[in-house]
Amino acid sequence: MSPRFGLPEFATPRLSAPEFYTRLARAYDALARRGPFVATLRRALADALDPEPGATVVEFGCGTGANRPYIEERIGGGTYVGVDFAPGVLRVARERDRELGGTGDSRGAYVRGDATRPPLCADGVDACCGAFVVGMLPDPARTVREWGDLVGPGGRIALLDLARTTRPGWRALNPAFDLFVRAGSPPGTARSLARSPATVQDERVAAAHRALRETCADVEYRTLLGGFARVSAGTVASPSAVE
Ligand SMILES: C[S@@+](CC[C@H](N)C(=O)[O-])C[C@H]1O[C@@H](n2cnc3c(N)ncnc32)[C@H](O)[C@@H]1O
Repeated sequence: MSPRFGLPEFATPRLSAPEFYTRLARAYDALARRGPFVATLRRALADALDPEPGATVVEFGCGTGANRPYIEERIGGGTYVGVDFAPGVLRVARERDRELGGTGDSRGAYVRGDATRPPLCADGVDACCGAFVVGMLPDPARTVREWGDLVGPGGRIALLDLARTTRPGWRALNPAFDLFVRAGSPPGTARSLARSPATVQDERVAAAHRALRETCADVEYRTLLGGFARVSAGTVASPSAVE
C-alpha cells in the first residue's frame, strides 16, 4: 500500500503519457499515417476545421504530425503549429519535416507544451484542433473552453475522436474497441482508473464535444466508421451569443 494515501501501489500508471508516447513514437507514427481509415478521418478533421487560406492553426496533442499535411492543404501559405508534451513524437515529427525540406510553402513548427495550458500568445491564432487527444485530458471540457479563448470569437475549433459506438448494428464491436483503448493506454492505466479506460474515454470525449457545442455558434457534428469516430467543429461565438 502507498504510505501516503493508503492506495494500492498500482494506483498510478507505470509510464506517464509523455514517456509512453516517446517510447512508442515510431510505431505510433506508422499507425497514424498508414493505419486503416486514417486518411479519411484526418481529411474529415481538416475539412470540418475549414481554416481560411493563410490562417495560423494550432494542433494540440499533435503526435508525430500526421494531420499536418491535411491542414496545410487547407491553409496554403499559412502557419501550422503542432503542440505535444511527449519529446519522442516531436522528434519524429521534426525529422520528417527536415526530410521533406520543410512542408511546401507553409511556415510551421512543433512546440513542446501542455494542451491544457496553451503555451502560445493568443494573438494571431485563427483555429485550433485536437485529434484523439481529449480522451487523455483530465478536464477536457475546461480545456476545450480554453482553446476557444485562445482563438477568440470568430476563430475555429475542431475535434476528432474515437469512442464506443451507440449504433445498433455496430455495438457488437464495442468489446473489441475496449481492448483497442486498453492497448493504446500507458501500462497500468486500467488499474489506475475506477472504471474501464474505454468508459473514461467515452465520458471525456462526450464532455469535450459538448463543450465545443456550448462554445461555438455554427456547430457541425458527424460520425464516421460506424459511429466510432466523432468530428465536431464550429466557430467560437462571442460571449453574449452563448449565454
Ligand atoms: C493518440 S495520440 C494522437 C496524436 C495525433 N493527434 C494524431 O492524430 O495522430 C495523443 C497525443 O496527445 C499527446 N498528449 C496527450 N495529452 C497531452 C497534453 N496534455 N498536452 C500535450 N500533448 C498531449 C500525446 O503525447 C500523444 O502524442
